[in-house]
Amino acid sequence: MTPKIAPAKGKLGILTPGMGAVSTTFMAGVEAVKKGLGEPIGSLTQLGTVRLGKRTDNRTPKIKEFVPLAGLNQLVFGGWDIFEDNAYEAAAHAQVLKPELLKKLKPSLQKVKPMKAVFDKNYVKRIDGPNVKTKGNLREKAEALMDDMKTFQTTNGCDRLVMIWCGSTEVFHRPEAVHQTLAAFEKGLAKNDPGIAPSQVYAYAALKSGVPFANGAPNLTHDIPALLGLARDHEVPVCGKDFKTGQTYMKTLLAPGLKARMLGCSGWFSTNILGNRDGEVLDDPGSFKTKEETKLSVLDQILQPNLYPELYKDLFHSVKINYYPPRGDEKEGWDNIDIFGWLGYPMQIKIDFLCRDSILAAPLVLDLVLFLDLAKRAGMKGVQEWLSFYFKAPMTAPGLYPEHDVFIQLMKLKNTLRWMKGEELITHLGLEYYD
Ligand SMILES: NC(=O)c1ccc[n+]([C@@H]2O[C@H](COP(=O)([O-])OP(=O)(O)OC[C@H]3O[C@@H](n4cnc5c(N)ncnc54)[C@H](O)[C@@H]3O)[C@@H](O)[C@H]2O)c1
Repeated sequence: MTPKIAPAKGKLGILTPGMGAVSTTFMAGVEAVKKGLGEPIGSLTQLGTVRLGKRTDNRTPKIKEFVPLAGLNQLVFGGWDIFEDNAYEAAAHAQVLKPELLKKLKPSLQKVKPMKAVFDKNYVKRIDGPNVKTKGNLREKAEALMDDMKTFQTTNGCDRLVMIWCGSTEVFHRPEAVHQTLAAFEKGLAKNDPGIAPSQVYAYAALKSGVPFANGAPNLTHDIPALLGLARDHEVPVCGKDFKTGQTYMKTLLAPGLKARMLGCSGWFSTNILGNRDGEVLDDPGSFKTKEETKLSVLDQILQPNLYPELYKDLFHSVKINYYPPRGDEKEGWDNIDIFGWLGYPMQIKIDFLCRDSILAAPLVLDLVLFLDLAKRAGMKGVQEWLSFYFKAPMTAPGLYPEHDVFIQLMKLKNTLRWMKGEELITHLGLEYYD
């Protein structure tokens, strides 16, 4: 059944819990593109195309012309942070974009002032700030977030909102009884249950308000039965988690290639140096454990050692992140990959990726908010697996293993767009060209 898609009329408010490097690079980037000061490189919604019909049909529109996405001029930004810096000051602090560029964007960025955050130092240990909600229990704080959203929407005349977590990585915690049902979760909010993380309070507030929610960090947030049930009941699309940008992106490019050629892999050693605030937070073992889980899961799920024991059963995979302030946001990621070929003869691959973390993440934020808004207007609800393309640990239906291969993910994304518009899905069988 082809869904009916409501038009993308009016303004779309983008709310980010966390106004740090990624969030402000995204906001500044959109403002820069609007002013013609740069191109939206890395954004599929802005630059990507989708082939329709047969290869001989010559129908390859831009994605943004094929499906009704909100335009950049329709976006309005808001957010919460524990620090009081507005988006201009926070972007200047993050030192991702050049001061000359930021100065030109100052009038629009300085209008984005962070609302008071819901914060708990037990969940993010390395930072603390003054701009926090102090009154009431977690339920009242969730209500305060819902009020923030309403006020933001009215003040800015927004037709719709989307929320995307761009906050720090919270410490590792597992789903508990309080996460299992909405009733247990709401009871937990009222009694400040320590098992409820701040990111979960934001997700709850978004879903209760019918606002689509994405998680750009690896923490346990809305990937719990209580909140997924809420998303379905309120007909809200959600996705997550952990933006797939630097080293893990490289991994999901390379690993499917090794497997496609039936090449073995005995070891994959990955290490990084990173000096931004994210790096500082990840220096805490609790937060790093959360990140490590999503980074490690990728290879096992791509290489499927259970199906190919002779190639991957002994794979040793290690991931490290070292906080190294001199590098700031300009992360360097090294990979040493020990592979083997015909008759078991060993070979090595080395990758040294001198990347820019937030430059890689910003276009993903843009695509995710535009696609989530599209999904909502198309009446899609719950986990949006077609957005796995953007995540290190894609959320799926219970019991389903995630698809990590980036090219399968892209095919799934484009086929979902074709399905939304009633176009034929592309299987790449192509026998008809030879009939
Ligand atoms: N940049 C990338 O390539 C990339 C990739 C994958 C995931 N991520 C994740 O995205 C997130 C953002 O990254 P970043 O580089 O912008 O980090 P950052 O440290 O620059 O920004 C995070 C901001 O969140 C704020 N914050 C923390 N807890 C909060 C709360 N409860 N409410 C409101 N604000 C809160 C912090 O004060 C900080 O300003 C991190 O979790 C990071 O791990 C980034």
